[in-house]
Amino acid sequence: MVSQGHPRQGSDWVAKIPEDVIETVRTATNIADVVGQYVQLKKSGKNLFGLCPFHEERTPSFSVSEDKQIFHCFSCGRGGNVFKFLMELEHVSFPEAVVKVADFSHVDLASEYRQESTGPAVDSKTGQLLALHEQASKLYHHILVNTEMGQPALDYLHDRGLTDETIETYQLGFAPGQRLLKPFFEQRQSDYQLLRQTGLFIENTDGELRDRFTERVMFPLRNASGHVAAFSGRLLKTAPDQPKYLNSPETSLFNKSRLLFNFDLARPAIRQAGEVTLFEGYMDVISATQAGVLNGIASMGTSLTTEQIYAIERTTDRLNVCYDGDEPGQRAIDRALRLLGEHSHLQLRVIQLPEGEDPDEYRKAHGDEAFRQMLETAKEPPLQFQLRYLRRSQALNTDSERLAYVNQVMPLLAQVTEPVELDLYLNQLTTELGIDKAALLAQLKQVQRDSAAQQERQRPAQQQQPAPSEPVMTVHQQQRPLNRLERAERSLLYRCLHDRNVWTRVSDVPNFSFVHEDYQVIYTLAQGYFQTHQDYQAAQFTDFVQEDRLQQMVIDLETTNMAAAVTPREIDDYLAVIMDQAPVDAQLRQKKQQLAEAARLGDADQQRQLVVEIVQLERQRQANKPV
Ligand code: UTP
Ligand code: MN
Repeated sequence: MVSQGHPRQGSDWVAKIPEDVIETVRTATNIADVVGQYVQLKKSGKNLFGLCPFHEERTPSFSVSEDKQIFHCFSCGRGGNVFKFLMELEHVSFPEAVVKVADFSHVDLASEYRQESTGPAVDSKTGQLLALHEQASKLYHHILVNTEMGQPALDYLHDRGLTDETIETYQLGFAPGQRLLKPFFEQRQSDYQLLRQTGLFIENTDGELRDRFTERVMFPLRNASGHVAAFSGRLLKTAPDQPKYLNSPETSLFNKSRLLFNFDLARPAIRQAGEVTLFEGYMDVISATQAGVLNGIASMGTSLTTEQIYAIERTTDRLNVCYDGDEPGQRAIDRALRLLGEHSHLQLRVIQLPEGEDPDEYRKAHGDEAFRQMLETAKEPPLQFQLRYLRRSQALNTDSERLAYVNQVMPLLAQVTEPVELDLYLNQLTTELGIDKAALLAQLKQVQRDSAAQQERQRPAQQQQPAPSEPVMTVHQQQRPLNRLERAERSLLYRCLHDRNVWTRVSDVPNFSFVHEDYQVIYTLAQGYFQTHQDYQAAQFTDFVQEDRLQQMVIDLETTNMAAAVTPREIDDYLAVIMDQAPVDAQLRQKKQQLAEAARLGDADQQRQLVVEIVQLERQRQANKPV
């Protein structure tokens, strides 16, 4: 359906979500499950660790605490509760994040809390461009499933074995002639400059726009957040002078070396299966989905890029390459394996299809069940593939051909660490080439010695990497060493929040206040919080605090290492440090103001007097600091 009557404005009225509803959503959710959709988490001690989704990194500094229901990155300093996580990652508002989490946890939300569309905020240019793609996608889909014009394309897709459900899931569409998008958007008075930037049009020399996609079955290409960012259109009938698939050009929304087809939909299945299957074509992925294999993705018809590998790597440890069974497919597998071997720690498998078939054809020919089975049984280690790949491109008739082949194979075998596996390969070679096994083994030893020696030579240049599952404390934590006062403030605030006895004790201190304003603000906010909440929950309190910087401080507080038990002595110590410091600071501020005033008036005596006093106060202040 084309929602012609619904303007997708950000100002659409949506009811404010009451706090008890937010609470229901929060308690029904484990933050680790939500984060786990995006980040591969590993348990280490009490927390879970992974690669931070907010910046590029090779060693994990991102942690999730299930106890506290918060996340925190030691490296970039981002942190917060489950809503904050989605807000930052998907660039959505707080209410939108609540809706997303509710959907994830199957909490029924009244429709008044939902925006008409779950699209991104339309006030940004990116939001507007995405909205245009969304509208185009709906229109193409409508043409395909509801109109006469779309009928041949619909027949074609049915003929290829796709069900209506699959067509719906992927919002497949049809672009008929030239006059579709242009009049459609003109009628909606869409901005010309914006339309130009969608990549959905071709511009002639007069700046006139024409539909780029015509007579093509349309595949919306969604980004990792599930928003349509581009299209690929397949010719209904392939023609020699036109590309079979035509993609949107690169735009500010669409970077083809970044986008992975189906990654948004596949992510939960990838996490669940613990592995991802990489296909060559969109149709292969869609076909797999229909067979119930939901963890499939594809790159954009180009070879895999390091950016794509990086995105995959943070979601899973294991990747299966399932490319076409023809010669280009085999070459592409070889290329992908090399690239993946070089740029990732992924455990790789190749799914070898019968000569000349592609996954989609295989499913169509043999059925869903056989397809699923093939994905399991045709799995082989990369080495197995590489040996066969080397073998098929060589004639092994003469001794020198055989020798050349052995020389290519040995470096591969040298990587095998399993003795039994190695023995199998050697036996295979012996039969294949008629070379004595002892001779092969001797040559292998030689290759191993050579490569060990080479590694030895390279060692000083290589950096020692820390063990992958260990969190690494980097810049952010080391940036600002805390002085004694601030340590005391932090610890006291932490204790106040977590222990009602401490809270009461501190509230009873006359004229108490934190020296640093931020801590005082959090403390004051907590007073309000405790009027309506019995227990302190960091994940809940951060919502209450609202302001971004203060939220970060609350999360930061949660990541301090505190002993489980608190003693009255400990609290007294903190109070002493803070109370002692507060007056000194206040006096210093006052004296400095007076000094400025004296300087303005040109009162030299007064200035001298004040400078002496300030120096004394500074000394006193210094004495409170750590050594
Ligand atoms: P294939 O030609 O193997 O596509 O190209 P396919 O999936 O088997 O397509 P059908 O079954 O004929 O419909 C694999 C991928 O290469 C890219 C597309 O991403 C496609 O999914 N490609 C292919 C292009 O970008 N342009 C082309 O002209 C052809
Ligand atoms: Mn195909």
